[in-house]
This record gives sequence, structure tokens and C-alpha cells, in this order.
Amino acid sequence: MEIVVSGIRPTGKLHLGNYFGALSNFRKMQEEYQCFFFIADYHSLTTHPTPVDLHGTVKQVLVEFLAAGIDPGKATIYIQSDLPETAELYLLLNMNAYLGELERVTTFKEKARKQPENINAGLLTYPCLMAADIIIHRALKVPVGKDQEQHLEMTRTFARRFNRMYQVDFFPEPQAFNFGDELIKIPGLDGSGKMGKSEGEGNAIYLSDSPEVIRKKVLRAVTDAGPERENQPKPEPIRNLFTLLSAVSSPETITFFEEQYNSCRIRYGDLKKQLAEDIIRYTDPIRDRIHELSADDAFLRKVAWMGRDKARTSAGQTIREVREIIGFREF
Ligand code: TYM
Repeated sequence: MEIVVSGIRPTGKLHLGNYFGALSNFRKMQEEYQCFFFIADYHSLTTHPTPVDLHGTVKQVLVEFLAAGIDPGKATIYIQSDLPETAELYLLLNMNAYLGELERVTTFKEKARKQPENINAGLLTYPCLMAADIIIHRALKVPVGKDQEQHLEMTRTFARRFNRMYQVDFFPEPQAFNFGDELIKIPGLDGSGKMGKSEGEGNAIYLSDSPEVIRKKVLRAVTDAGPERENQPKPEPIRNLFTLLSAVSSPETITFFEEQYNSCRIRYGDLKKQLAEDIIRYTDPIRDRIHELSADDAFLRKVAWMGRDKARTSAGQTIREVREIIGFREF
């Protein structure tokens, strides 16, 4: 059976971008593939969280995975730092990753700009760790959002390079995956860029946000004075609202507002009200489960332990073969 891997950094609560970029695709894939879904806590160290924050956000993300419908009976859910095999493979991949290619990665350049006081080696070699996460299970598919495309390209480069270097056909080349044709980017509410945790409070809608908070955030979303000509192309903030609408609303609703826009009759207030209600309806079941699961430490522990054991079996097999291929052999 084909293997699927994906992960999310525990840097805060999960938002709609995480949900539509990774989680919802993963939930569909767990029905048909052998799936591993993990919490990338090693990765989050690149931004230096405190131990208390780290533990809290790992728990939060574990709860939200389950609340969003990842089923520990179908998929393997685990915590990245529970798998020392990943760290070993990361070390090995670092030996064949070159400074020039790592410095050219867009996310590295962005992070270096955002945190000039903390451009650590982990940021630079982030793609090596991510490649290790994926190829440790010899995965073929990786459900992620558009922002991870370049990391997947690097993963393929590292897998290919390993195979060529040791003249083996060991690691497959994984593909970023989405159920639609293209990888998606969910926009934020501030009129530019993507939905993200670091972009300011009002930009992201979290899966755990209450209905009141969702209404407030959506109503404050940036718009303009409205179209002046029929069938006028939409400027970015308006296009963003329509992208959100297309993620959560019914085809009739989307068509209705498209027609209103194209005939210059649109009232953004109405669009936002509808969008807020559709987001609330969409996230209702997830929100309820977040509350229930947060209080169930015994269940969370069981999920994490079960996941660790299954993930280590898969990773252990890969690392044993990698050691043999490289020439680390027992006397
Ligand atoms: P992270 O933690 O930034 O985001 C987790 C997932 O959410 C997706 N995502 C989005 N998708 C669409 N629109 C958005 N606005 C949006 N914001 C976030 C991301 O594409 C991602 O799928 N490097 C990864 C974590 C990782 C990983 C891996 C993923 C580590 N190892 C191995 C897959 C496989 C990251 O930082 O994602």
C-alpha cells in the first residue's frame, strides 16, 4: 500500500490554512493509504519556544488532529521527537546537502529576514529534517499546502542524491499532494498574503475560535469600495474572501455572490455575514471535539504511545537498511 506522510509544527493553535492545506486532505487519505501524521516539534525549536510552551502546543496540536478527524485507528499519529531514527537520518542527509542550495530556499530567506537575531543552523538545514521525516517511511505522497512545494522539491533532490551516491534504488521520490489539481494557499483576512500564525491576531481564523470571535474577525476583513464596472477583475482582498468562500460555502452561495459582484450589486457586509456563518457551520463539530479531547489526557497518552510504537517500527526498518547501504556494518 502507498505510504503517506505529513506533519505540522506545534507553534500555536491550528488555523483554516492548516486545515485546508494539510488536515482535510490527510483525513481523506487515511481511508485508502498507509498514513503517518506527526507533530513536528523538533522543527519548532528553530524559533526557540520555552519548555512549557512547547509541551502545551504539542498537546494542542495532538488534540486538534484528532478533533479534525484524524483517526488513530486508521492513521499513525506520532510526535516527531519520539522518533530518534528521524534525527539519525537528518544527520546523514546533512552530509550530502550543500550550503548554496540550502541558502537559496525561500522559507530560509524569509525566516532570516524575520528573525535576524536567530539565524540558527536548524533554520538552514530545515529541508534536511523535513526530507528525513518523509523518507524515513519511504513515503510517496505528502498532503501539504502550497507553501511547502519547494521543501518537497528538496526532498526529491536528497532522495535522488542518496540513491545515486550509493547506486541503489532505495528512496522513492515523494510528491506534494492535494485532492484538487493544485496545492492550495488559504489567504489571511488582512488583505494580503496567506493565513498564518505569525501574521497578526486578526489575520487567521483558528479551528478553536468561538463563533463570536469568527464573526468579529470576518467582519473586520479588509475590503474596498466595491466594483465600478461589470465583470471587473477582483483586487486581492476581495479575491481572498472569495477563496475562503469557495472552501466553506455551497456552490449556490458562491455563484450568488459571484453574480452579485459581476453585476456591481454586491454588498460586502452580506458576503462577510454569510462567510462567517459558513465557517462556523464548518468548524462546529471540530470545535466541540477540541473541548472534549483536551480534558482526556489518558486517551491522548494512549494515542501518542501507540503512534510512537508503530512509527518506530517503520522508521527502524528504513534506518537499518540505510546503515547497511552507507557501510555502517556490524563486526
Ligand atoms: P506548517 O506547520 O507551517 O504548516 C502545516 C501545514 O499547513 C499548511 N498551511 C497552509 N496551507 C494552505 N494555506 C495556508 N495559508 C497554510 N498555512 C499552512 C502547510 O502547507 C502545511 O502543510 N515544514 C512543515 C512541517 C513539516 C512537514 C514535514 C510537512 C515538517 N516535516 C514533513 C510534511 C511532511 C511546516 O512548517 O508546516
